[in-house]
Amino acid sequence: MKYAIVMAAGKGTRMHSEVPKVLHQVCNQSMAELIIRNLKKANAERIVTVVGYGHEQVEKALEGKCEFALQEPQLGTGHAVMQAKQLEDLDGITLVVNGDCPCVQTETFEKLYQAAEHSDMVVLTTTLEDPKSYGRVVIENGKVKKIVEYKDCNEEEKKIRTINTGIYAFQNKKLFAGLKKLTNNNAQKEYYITDLVEIFLAQNDSVSVVEAEDANEVQGVNDAYELSLANAYVRNKINIALMKQGVTMIDPNTTYVGVDVEFGHDVVLYPNVYLYGKTKIGNHTTITPQSYLVNAEVGDYCTISSSEITDSVVKNHCQIGPYAHLRNGSVVDDYNRIGNFVEFKNTKFGVDSRCAHLTYLGDSDIGSKVNIGCGVVTVNYDGANKYHTVVKDGAFIGSNCNLIAPVTVGENAVAAAGSTITEDIPDTDMGIGRVRQVNKSGYGKYYLERNRAKKAAKK
Ligand code: UD1
Ligand code: CA
Repeated sequence: MKYAIVMAAGKGTRMHSEVPKVLHQVCNQSMAELIIRNLKKANAERIVTVVGYGHEQVEKALEGKCEFALQEPQLGTGHAVMQAKQLEDLDGITLVVNGDCPCVQTETFEKLYQAAEHSDMVVLTTTLEDPKSYGRVVIENGKVKKIVEYKDCNEEEKKIRTINTGIYAFQNKKLFAGLKKLTNNNAQKEYYITDLVEIFLAQNDSVSVVEAEDANEVQGVNDAYELSLANAYVRNKINIALMKQGVTMIDPNTTYVGVDVEFGHDVVLYPNVYLYGKTKIGNHTTITPQSYLVNAEVGDYCTISSSEITDSVVKNHCQIGPYAHLRNGSVVDDYNRIGNFVEFKNTKFGVDSRCAHLTYLGDSDIGSKVNIGCGVVTVNYDGANKYHTVVKDGAFIGSNCNLIAPVTVGENAVAAAGSTITEDIPDTDMGIGRVRQVNKSGYGKYYLERNRAKKAAKK
């Protein structure tokens, strides 16, 4: 059996943030979520996240994704692992992972599980030009001797460039037996998981290292700058994989795609495009700058221009935007054009209809071959309740109409431009809801001359 423990109880003081460190986002997912996701891909069957600082928030964010153990107070990384008591008596291999190390790839977790088949403890290390304040791994004659925390290093040890990444694999029962022997006899008066190296060696248990080839993969995140580096690393990994699959990115450095987004073929992404959540993009679809899509499903042969789409569907052959906003379960059917400054909320829009300019449709069911003129507003809210608007197939809503819901416009019916429609319009009828026009003879000229004279008198 394969298990994992994610250490996530620390506050992350250097983030200078009220948000617990492991909830800070990398490519629109929390660091903890990313780690858990990759652990699952490496076949971890049970994952325990050790929580402490802000644990209610962390538990809520990770609900259903893992088990939890509470560490209170936080007395160090060794003490954190001790709290995962639900794993204590199990046979198997357990990975222990720092919660602030979000870039580790699934293959690396897999390598560690494999290495622990032949070793009681495995430490993932890397070699850095500048080993900063990472724990140093002391290796003599090719054998690991100990890990020394930076604060406990002597001058010689500070020169060591092989560092502890904070990621380990253990024979599970040996891990929990070893933890019982930890003491807090060190500079920070904490129980260090790193002391297990010496404890294991003293009782003749084997300790080995796996070296991460790419040091950036194991970078820890301790402040907002390092968070940006982790973001860049993960973004780059995602984008390279997608481009290898055929997604065209005009500028991958400014293209932001979450880990769950799926693509068809011949997709083109312009700079400053954000695709997150369970978004799916079909074939031959192009997305232009400043588009922001979360949980959006877009079909084939669409163009999304500078638009925001959340929790909504756009089917095939549609042109959306520039500057459209589709949200809350809206569905735009095939062959549609949704234009500038149009907002749809919870609105179904039938095949081959048009809504090209300056419009709000909320809680609406719009049929096919409907034309919605410029500046149409569904008045769906009376301050207390939301009401539904129905526009049936072939109807024509003239420009600048207010449709006061609940209201239905029938098949092939017309709402005259500038109308306030408060009652249903039957099929094939025209509804006109505005005051009839009166022309006052010569009054235009009189009015303008009077006002121009007033303006001249002011000078
Ligand atoms: C740790 C390692 C260090 C390694 C570095 C890699 C120890 C003693 N040191 O140092 O050798 O080079 O990671 O990044 O392990 N945490 C808890 N409970 C606690 C303390 C920490 O859950 O009581 C969690 C934190 O939330 C964090 C992780 O453990 O996710 C690492 O803690 P942190 O304080 O950042 O350890 P480092 O000083 O970076
Ligand atoms: Ca750290």
